[in-house]
Amino acid sequence: MIRFLLNNDAIALDVTRADVTVLQWLREHQLKTGTKEGCGSGDCGACTVMITDADGSRALNGCILFLPQINGKHITTVEGIASHDGTLHPVQQAMVDHHGSQCGYCTPGFVVSMATAHLNGASDHDVQLAGNLCRCTGYAPIIRAAKATQDRPVPEHLLFLAKRIPALQTPETSPSRQIVQPSSTDALATWYAANPDATLIAGATDVGLWVTKQFRDLGAVAFLNHCTDLRGITETETEIRIGAMTTISELEKVVAGYHPSFATMLRRYGSVQVRNAATLGGNIANGSPIGDGPPALIALNTSLHLRKGDVRRTIALEDFFIAYGKQDRSAGEFVE
Ligand code: FES
Ligand code: FES
Repeated sequence: MIRFLLNNDAIALDVTRADVTVLQWLREHQLKTGTKEGCGSGDCGACTVMITDADGSRALNGCILFLPQINGKHITTVEGIASHDGTLHPVQQAMVDHHGSQCGYCTPGFVVSMATAHLNGASDHDVQLAGNLCRCTGYAPIIRAAKATQDRPVPEHLLFLAKRIPALQTPETSPSRQIVQPSSTDALATWYAANPDATLIAGATDVGLWVTKQFRDLGAVAFLNHCTDLRGITETETEIRIGAMTTISELEKVVAGYHPSFATMLRRYGSVQVRNAATLGGNIANGSPIGDGPPALIALNTSLHLRKGDVRRTIALEDFFIAYGKQDRSAGEFVE
């Protein structure tokens, strides 16, 4: 069972399939059709939703986000952006005033991205909206709308989203379950050693496409979003230690102080929505030929920590990549 808030309404769901996306569920089960499907691969932003938890609010692509990933969070769709009395959010009004919408297909995604940036006080509009594509209006009126609202107050109903998040459910980890959400790295290690053929899902920016584009059966799945001890960055005098579940957005902030050119490169990595979801561990472990992190990390002499059950080993990141699509990782072993 997962629990979350959808536009302030409490939802409890028994998830029986790992591969149902948030976008699919919103449109087909909730008839919340404001959120659009364009590419189904994290490229166009038509499906953008706002996800809020104790760490704040961020824009994510609903098309490559699976339901268990929003367990314990608050999801705001375009239907929840205006106030309850129907008063438009400042960015919605500005989109009208500045003629920021023509056919309108991209508009809900833009509005959610803009409202999230507005909530977070982000005024680097080109960066914030780089993950939203518009085919017919053109970007100038949309950017003008974003600029026009950057100093306007955040509507009350969006200010306190984090306070309304339900208590996180105790994740279940039973070897008999096909969908598990381990609550610690130790629990993950035990489960994965017993289910070495399972799929591990961190940010789902790559695995999401296995489902939406390749229609793959994921088999047994562990969602890692409750492994909070796999997240975070520790800085010492001599090294930066990065947990595998650290997102690219989080990495970008820390690395900027040490290696500004690496941070600049990370700003070209997908889009805000992708960087908010994608994890460094997933980027490495998948060994994607289009994985952007490893070349820079190899240049920085990065070591990689792998774990299988209670056995850990450390190798040079460079040695992890053996050949195209082939990594030095045994079944049941994961990047820590
Ligand atoms: Fe294009 Fe989701 S539908 S990013
Ligand atoms: Fe038509 Fe943006 S308004 S795609």
